[in-house]
Amino acid sequence: MVATRLMMLLICFLAAATSGLVEAGSPTFFFTWNVTYGTISPLGIPQQGILINGQFPGPNINSTTNDNLVINVFNKLDEPFLLTWPGIQHKKNSWQDGVLGTNCPIPPGKNYTYYLQVKDQIGSYIYHPSTGFHRAAGGFGGLCIHSRSVVPVPYNRFVEDDFTLLIGDWYTRSHVELGKQLDSGKLLGKPDGVLINGKSGRLDYDSDGKGDNEPLFTMKAGKVYKYRICNVGVKTSLNFRIQGHTMKLVEMEGSHVVQNEYESLDVHVGQCFTVLVTANQDPKDYYLIASTRFTRTVITTTAIVRYSDSKGLASPDLPKAPVGWDWSLNQFRSFRWNLTASAARPNPQGSFHYGGIPINRTIRLANTAHLVNGKVRFAVNGVSYVNSETPLKFAEYYGIPEEVFKYNVISDKPADEIENVTLQPNVMDATYKAFMEIVLENRQNTMQSWILDGYAFFAVGMEPGTWNPDKRKSYNLIDAVSRYTIQVFPNCWAAILVSMDNAGMWNLRSNIWERNYLGQQLYLSVRLHKRSLRDEYNMPDNALLCGIVANMSKPTPYSLQ
Ligand SMILES: *[C@@H]1O[C@H](CO)[C@@H](O)[C@H](O)[C@H]1NC(C)=O
Ligand SMILES: *[C@@H]1O[C@H](CO)[C@@H](O)[C@H](O)[C@H]1NC(C)=O
Ligand SMILES: *[C@@H]1O[C@H](CO)[C@@H](O)[C@H](O)[C@H]1NC(C)=O
Ligand SMILES: *[C@@H]1O[C@H](CO)[C@@H](O)[C@H](O)[C@H]1NC(C)=O
Ligand SMILES: *[C@@H]1O[C@H](CO)[C@@H](O)[C@H](O)[C@H]1NC(C)=O
Ligand SMILES: *[C@@H]1O[C@H](CO)[C@@H](O)[C@H](O)[C@H]1NC(C)=O
Ligand SMILES: *[C@@H]1O[C@H](CO)[C@@H](O)[C@H](O)[C@H]1NC(C)=O
Repeated sequence: MVATRLMMLLICFLAAATSGLVEAGSPTFFFTWNVTYGTISPLGIPQQGILINGQFPGPNINSTTNDNLVINVFNKLDEPFLLTWPGIQHKKNSWQDGVLGTNCPIPPGKNYTYYLQVKDQIGSYIYHPSTGFHRAAGGFGGLCIHSRSVVPVPYNRFVEDDFTLLIGDWYTRSHVELGKQLDSGKLLGKPDGVLINGKSGRLDYDSDGKGDNEPLFTMKAGKVYKYRICNVGVKTSLNFRIQGHTMKLVEMEGSHVVQNEYESLDVHVGQCFTVLVTANQDPKDYYLIASTRFTRTVITTTAIVRYSDSKGLASPDLPKAPVGWDWSLNQFRSFRWNLTASAARPNPQGSFHYGGIPINRTIRLANTAHLVNGKVRFAVNGVSYVNSETPLKFAEYYGIPEEVFKYNVISDKPADEIENVTLQPNVMDATYKAFMEIVLENRQNTMQSWILDGYAFFAVGMEPGTWNPDKRKSYNLIDAVSRYTIQVFPNCWAAILVSMDNAGMWNLRSNIWERNYLGQQLYLSVRLHKRSLRDEYNMPDNALLCGIVANMSKPTPYSLQ
């Protein structure tokens, strides 16, 4: 074990010295991932899944602030493929983001090595495929980032064990069928089930009543456990709860939060929470429960957590999920940043006084649905996004953006009534280091879940109705949580504040994958007036090329000007 670690350190220095891709001084961990199809039966019906090294869900990555992760992904599917790492900020390095606006997809039979450095964020994350509808077939897994031992955390970090719980809706149709259905203009409809770590639990034990259902996790009475709960699904918000136990929320999306106790948590698509659970109940089995929210019929799935000296089966009486979305809105408002806790750095989170920074620009983005040639499309301010063959970032880097896309085809203010929609790439120019207010206006009566790559933002406000500048009076300018996803309830708005200090091409997208697939996304291009390595890394040497840049000579690299 020690020898392996030393080997890794050695390889790290060599790699750092030769490629300049990883930061010397911090440990580097190497992964080789084979992405293949395989038959899985999470709902009892065999179907084609996407496996990583034979696993569904994929392997969990365990890391610590500043670690370099070198992940060589071999695409053994019959379709182009990419993985993305939501919430990993890729400082100066949108090249590693793994979305089609910043990377060419890995062709079948080829591989691509991601060089990630996990930095300013601690907590629980996921990775998942960004191409096509692959995410509905697997290829996802957990990724956790621990604080360095020199940085204090606002709770006892020596928990008895650390559990990753990937919950998500599930369809029995293959990703190909789901994609075809969307291409034909029909939405997916309700999911067929809900999974916890790739399995769908039953409410009863086996027929002999002995309770020989394998527990997912085991806890020792009196000990404290960390649970990392992420919604890896494609469409549905889920409520998560643990029978007989409360959950103390300690982290979310890279921030330490005020530690409230929750009986249940609404986890919207793409969101992650870290909670502490104390095994302080009678020693027996308990159900872990995930159930759909805001759906006509509630789909519930369970898994078992067993006390190590369990003396009985779990009770079939499951705690009820909350009803309605105003409960969920109130829960959102209860999430507060712990201003005195340290994040990745020793200085407290609250030392960044975001509430006092003047806003340079306000962008209002309205999501709408349209019928285009009889097929459903989703749009942001009237533009329904389509991918270009050449990644947007490449077109920009090679100095030929106009051959691939136009900047600012949408304006900062959506029309009151959006009648028409155009299908094209959607890139907004964002000034480097500007402080922006982005208002997400949900003009539909369905749930939204948004994610911004490359950044953490402050989720300052969320209310029913229409946003206007007066609403700023209701913003939380003191202790809103710094995070990278935000849900927007039906016919509500949500406001975020973000400092555009990470140069690159960054995807702002719906995490609800049918919306994303049918156009509800855009990119923010945070460009430098003067290219400098200080602010942005060069295109990596191993970048896969495609589209019009495939045969062009590489432009002059950035230097330390
Ligand atoms: C990936 O597949 C190759 C050959 O297909 C095999 O040699 C290698 O051991 C596999 N790697 C892992 C980590 O499974
Ligand atoms: C993950 O890493 C942390 C910090 O290095 C370590 O304490 C923990 O045991 C690791 N967990 C697993 C499951 O490997
Ligand atoms: C593909 O994997 C090989 C090692 O098997 C590695 O040398 C090469 O750099 C990888 N290709 C890319 C584009 O990362
Ligand atoms: C916030 O963090 C501080 C510093 O680590 C800790 O002492 C305090 O208990 C935390 N407060 C809450 C409300 O969680
Ligand atoms: C929408 O398109 C229709 C048909 O092309 C056109 O008549 C109408 O003026 C357009 N509306 C707007 C607001 O552009
Ligand atoms: C943002 O606004 C502040 C205050 O008006 C100004 O000093 C700063 O230069 C602006 N920054 C950008 C990037 O526009
Ligand atoms: C690039 O060059 C290769 C052969 O060198 C050729 O097969 C391919 O069609 C070219 N691609 C483009 C986009 O011109």
